[in-house]
Amino acid sequence: METETHVHPGTEKITSGAHSPYWVDSVGPLAFLKLEEDLTTDVIIIGAGISGISIAYELINSGKKVVVIDDGFVGSGETGRTTAHLVNALDDRYYNLEKVHGKKKAKLLAESHRKAIDHVEEIIKLDRFDCDFKRLDGFLFLHPSDSDSSLDKELIATKEAGLDVEKVKKVPGLLNYRGAAIRFARQARFHPLKYLTALSNIILKKGGAIYTDTKAIKIDHTGVVTDKKRRIIADHVVVATNSPINNLVRMHLKQYAYRSYVIGTKVPKDSLPDVLWWDTGDFKENAQTPPYHYVRLQEFDATHDLLVIGGEDHPTGLAEASEKKEEDAYAYLEAWAQKHFGVKAENVIYKWSGQVLEPMDGIAFIGKNPGDHDNTYIVTGDSGNGMTHGVIAGMLISDLITGKHNNFEDLYDPGRFKLLKAGNKFFKELIGGLFNYFRYKPKTEEPDELRLIAKNEAKVVDIKGESKGVFRDEHDHLHIVGVECTHLKCIVKWNNDEKSWDCPCHGSRFSYEGKVLNGPASTDLPYRLITKTDSGMFFKDEKINVKR
Ligand SMILES: Cc1cc2nc3c(=O)[nH]c(=O)nc-3n(C[C@H](O)[C@H](O)[C@H](O)COP(=O)(O)OP(=O)(O)OC[C@H]3O[C@@H](n4cnc5c(N)ncnc54)[C@H](O)[C@@H]3O)c2cc1C
Ligand code: FES
Repeated sequence: METETHVHPGTEKITSGAHSPYWVDSVGPLAFLKLEEDLTTDVIIIGAGISGISIAYELINSGKKVVVIDDGFVGSGETGRTTAHLVNALDDRYYNLEKVHGKKKAKLLAESHRKAIDHVEEIIKLDRFDCDFKRLDGFLFLHPSDSDSSLDKELIATKEAGLDVEKVKKVPGLLNYRGAAIRFARQARFHPLKYLTALSNIILKKGGAIYTDTKAIKIDHTGVVTDKKRRIIADHVVVATNSPINNLVRMHLKQYAYRSYVIGTKVPKDSLPDVLWWDTGDFKENAQTPPYHYVRLQEFDATHDLLVIGGEDHPTGLAEASEKKEEDAYAYLEAWAQKHFGVKAENVIYKWSGQVLEPMDGIAFIGKNPGDHDNTYIVTGDSGNGMTHGVIAGMLISDLITGKHNNFEDLYDPGRFKLLKAGNKFFKELIGGLFNYFRYKPKTEEPDELRLIAKNEAKVVDIKGESKGVFRDEHDHLHIVGVECTHLKCIVKWNNDEKSWDCPCHGSRFSYEGKVLNGPASTDLPYRLITKTDSGMFFKDEKINVKR
């Protein structure tokens, strides 16, 4: 049976995909004015996701003048496409993190995420708003490909890192699972866009400014120039664009872009215990962070909760490397959810995907942009824990700007390079990525293939000796883009699920109209629209028959 999910045609221009996530759908796009004048401020922040808004919130409370700009709306990046578990149960596993960083740093890491959850709770109490925040337990249980010894190793490492954990024999609410699990106490969840809405209102009330639909096209240590040629001069520049668009190469060699998928299904209210569930990941997949499932509940309506199930990750633009297509991921999630939660496919009302950046050594990069001026900062390498990383960025970057000591500065320093200890992972990702890039590079089809492109599908086609990405929309118009990524010229691949051109090299993504959806690219792909009426004529000149 065909499932009806929320797809908003055209939202790909303002969010990073064609599917509309529950968070955006339930709150609506949070848009402010477009910047139409030149400005001077203490701090300019580019990007209004959890990172940018958290940084602005902390700075405004420290008495700084702050301007935030976003080329979409508040939360239109990956924060709108998250699942918003707030955890210190880190998905890279403490036993791995300990190996690379040592026990002391693993403990500091746990402390930083605990502090982030506590801080969110304090902010909500202090500023008195509701964003469905809830403290709850999380349960880490074994994927069938993993062994009990992983749980034992993680139990020891998490205890050493100071987490409140215990091994339990049963996982509440989970069907068809007989093994043990680790219970993590005092984890949390919230509605990310309700949280950002409340913080944005506070920032504005305290004299800060937020401009949406305002793209930074030039960034340096003096400030920003926007797409409308407006200049913002600032003492400090913070690039919170998820993938830093002011850093051409260095940071993009230290992290890898993955896509992750989510389904949301209605379940009768209170029919499941309110906890977080995570499995340990599929060790059969040849990935450094084995793709794992992550599940939570969300208040939905008077009679239902929404069960939000995520997983099926793969490197961006390389779904085929796991022998799957992007759009098939939801069916795998449904099958898994059916087995473990009795979910019926016809009750799935949301599906969407998003992007995470996996840092080579498992820790995000938050602080001064390496090799840049001292007043320029970045937040990236969020991994599956980007909610707490965003809150940590708020505290850490505001301390760096206001000259306060922060215990976590070295831990998150973007300039670190753990090649010796994280080298194995680094080289495996690099070599595997290169191999798969060439293996699955799109084949350029003969011009005649244009006729065979079905509605809502795309192909790479030779047009007058040049490879072009061609998408045929539902009105039979052809959207034609150049296929060389504007970051470092890798060839982009079509993602038929989110209707985007995705770059397998460092995760840049472009809409079918060539607009940047995810960095590091910041320039759009060359684009040309051939309408249905034009197409016969245009291609007649070039002796190409595109009529179907
Ligand atoms: C499916 C999925 C599930 C996840 N689940 C969890 C979870 O349960 N827990 C957790 O902790 N983390 C989770 N994450 C990770 C987390 O959601 C992200 O790490 C986090 O939202 C990133 O926030 P951000 O502010 O750094 O980036 P974003 O939210 O992407 O914000 C960056 C902003 O910059 C803007 N921008 C980009 N370029 C420009 C420009 N040139 N000019 C102006 N603005 C620009 C974008 O429009 C965007 O709004 C998940 C991620 C995904 C995809
Ligand atoms: S993202 Fe770097 S080349 Fe495309």
